[in-house]
Amino acid sequence: MKQIILDVSKTSGTISEKQIQNRASQAESCNRELEKGTGKGSDFLGWLHLPSSITEADITDIQATAEQLRAKCDVVVVVGIGGSYLGAKAVIDALSGSFDYMENKKPVIVYAGHNIGEDYLYELQKYLAGKSFGIINISKSGTTTEPALAFRILKKQLEDSAGKEEAKNRIVAVTDKARGALRTLANKEGYKTYVIPDDVGGRFSVLTPVGLLPIAVAGIDIRQLIAGAVAMEKSVSANTPFNDNIAEIYAATRNELYASGKKIEILANFSPKLHFVSEWWKQLYGESEGKENRGIFTAAVDFTTDLHSMGQWIQEGERSIFETVISIASPKYKVETPFDEQDLDGLNFLAGKRVDEINKMAELGTQIAHVDGGVPNIKITLPELNEYYLGQLLYFFERACGISGYMLGVNPFDQPGVEAYKKNMFALLNKPGYEGLLGNTK
Ligand code: PA5
Repeated sequence: MKQIILDVSKTSGTISEKQIQNRASQAESCNRELEKGTGKGSDFLGWLHLPSSITEADITDIQATAEQLRAKCDVVVVVGIGGSYLGAKAVIDALSGSFDYMENKKPVIVYAGHNIGEDYLYELQKYLAGKSFGIINISKSGTTTEPALAFRILKKQLEDSAGKEEAKNRIVAVTDKARGALRTLANKEGYKTYVIPDDVGGRFSVLTPVGLLPIAVAGIDIRQLIAGAVAMEKSVSANTPFNDNIAEIYAATRNELYASGKKIEILANFSPKLHFVSEWWKQLYGESEGKENRGIFTAAVDFTTDLHSMGQWIQEGERSIFETVISIASPKYKVETPFDEQDLDGLNFLAGKRVDEINKMAELGTQIAHVDGGVPNIKITLPELNEYYLGQLLYFFERACGISGYMLGVNPFDQPGVEAYKKNMFALLNKPGYEGLLGNTK
């Protein structure tokens, strides 16, 4: 099996190879801190050796539950927000057929609890009406408003349509082992449950049942996903020297770029299937590093689509950005450009070429243009888009995020800033105990 490749050579117009090398010992020591558990937030390092600690029994159990849901349900609603939603969505979207949802493939996976949109919930209820559906309710704290509200509404719909007893067979809760309202509810109702370990934070939880259960329900091979993550766990360990350690190199490069004035990192892809991988990454890095008035702002674009919108800004806007591109070396399928006798569209110069050859030239052309325009470019290449390499990519980003956060000097594993809006919302909604707290973010 191959490994994903990291190339930071196209950052050299802004930072030198020597500057990256100067960060080597800091990156290595931050990686060792993760390993030894001596850094900030060290009670949240359960993700570090999570891939290699998943047992065959864990996988079999998750797959059995997934099979039960697949057998019983035409639709499975995954309820969760942030780290309790994005990992599953990222993997499922990346590895499912783009038009599966239109082809009557069962079960259809839909999402709820990641917004408070009344129209969204109305339309979801309408879509579920008359269908055999199940729910995976995911919340580590078990108290997050968005998923709790969506679950309350959907649970009622399921119980009303399938009966309370059958509903219990179609609801799975993924939550804390002892605390929170969802744990109390699940125990009382007798739902099948999975535990999110105390020491794994939401955005690092994709390889726990938070991600693995919905991914398995979607029919994706979680064994291969885990195998890829295990390979990367070994490859970027604190024992691997800096020049062979892609997590350390990525962390060092982005910190050096940040120090040189590049405040925004744009994750770009050339495959629409990766849109939610970028959303997952955006949360991982944004929530981990954006604190104490520091941190790279994480943004994402889908190319070539967004070259026709954000391309102008990236090429000629304020020079405060760098770009990290995820490239897929070989697509799964083959589509060739046909020859056309009349050639009215003038595309016969492409006749016989695969669509991916054209995409790759768009990718190279974009890289050259953006680097010329003062946008340093980091490139991550996956040999193929499959479970194994996606598993590698997820763990690579997690490990690099831990190292990078430590290099920045913050605790990458907390998110105190997320509480501010909640406090105001609860005060505005007259939640008991929140009286007078509006605007009081301290
Ligand atoms: O990364 C995080 O910790 C957050 O994004 C959480 O995952 C998110 O807020 C959802 O929390 P919970 O799973 O407790 O409902």
